[in-house]
Amino acid sequence: MDNLLSMEHLTTNEIYELVKRASAIKKGELEPRRYEDKFVANLFFENSTRTKSSFLVAEQKLGLKLIDFETNTSSVQKGETLYDTCKTLEQVGADVLVIRHSQTTYYDELKSLNVPIINAGDGSGQHPTQSLLDIMTIYEEYQTFEGLNILICGDIKNSRVARSNFQSLTALGANVMFSSPDAWKDDSLDAPYKDIDTVIDEVDIVMLLRVQHERHTDENTTQFEVSNYHNQYGLTQARYNRLKSQAIVMHPAPVNRGVEIEDSLVEASKSRIFKQMENGMYLRMAVIDYILQSKGAETNEIINEC
Ligand code: CP
Repeated sequence: MDNLLSMEHLTTNEIYELVKRASAIKKGELEPRRYEDKFVANLFFENSTRTKSSFLVAEQKLGLKLIDFETNTSSVQKGETLYDTCKTLEQVGADVLVIRHSQTTYYDELKSLNVPIINAGDGSGQHPTQSLLDIMTIYEEYQTFEGLNILICGDIKNSRVARSNFQSLTALGANVMFSSPDAWKDDSLDAPYKDIDTVIDEVDIVMLLRVQHERHTDENTTQFEVSNYHNQYGLTQARYNRLKSQAIVMHPAPVNRGVEIEDSLVEASKSRIFKQMENGMYLRMAVIDYILQSKGAETNEIINEC
């Protein structure tokens, strides 16, 4: 695996391999390699708390050196293109680039570069490390995906998390359903749309999505009203009470409390929202390690063994 751009590019074997490595690192069963001679740059053209901070911790735990890069103090402000920024970082010695950008499939214009790219989210396209950490969290709970009933609720059309997870969880054998207002349905994804109230007591996982206000046009924003949305599509206490005893609640976060989920349920016993964040750091360690090993990185560990 040279890059991680889209869940569509991963085989189910690669998904299992990454999740197993992340779990082994988390349990202390796998000592990750050290990459003290390697450099990484994190390019976040969109805001982030979880993804950026967990990549930063993962990179430092792996011993990588960070190239200081912030869009608002870089030559992006002088009109530098994404390609020129990335080509420059490649030339100064970056061994891996982590990129979040508002442009869907931004990575198409970077194909000629010879530096691995990890997609930290592209517009409404894909968020592969989020999908992998979600898969890791589900695997910890159920040790399988086959036959699991998963309801993904909310802003499907604008959500890179919905797209990534639909593709990967379906490939792994889960039954993925959506619940969404008409304006936020996505016909390009072949999953059935359900009324949340007709299926809430049958699902193993209910995954809530953040309402993506920043991606809305005037046309679909006008259809949004918080209390209506919460009552029709949100996880209320009444719906939570109907969940199966083993069912879990997920959300990629940040959460709009009181919109996608009732405030008091964010840390309820069935919620795995903060577990997802914890797993994200281990999963990102596993991804970086896997990519640098694929690239044939010489590590201190290998050098010391010689
Ligand atoms: N889930 C997620 O991607 O969160 P951030 O936008 O805070 O990184």
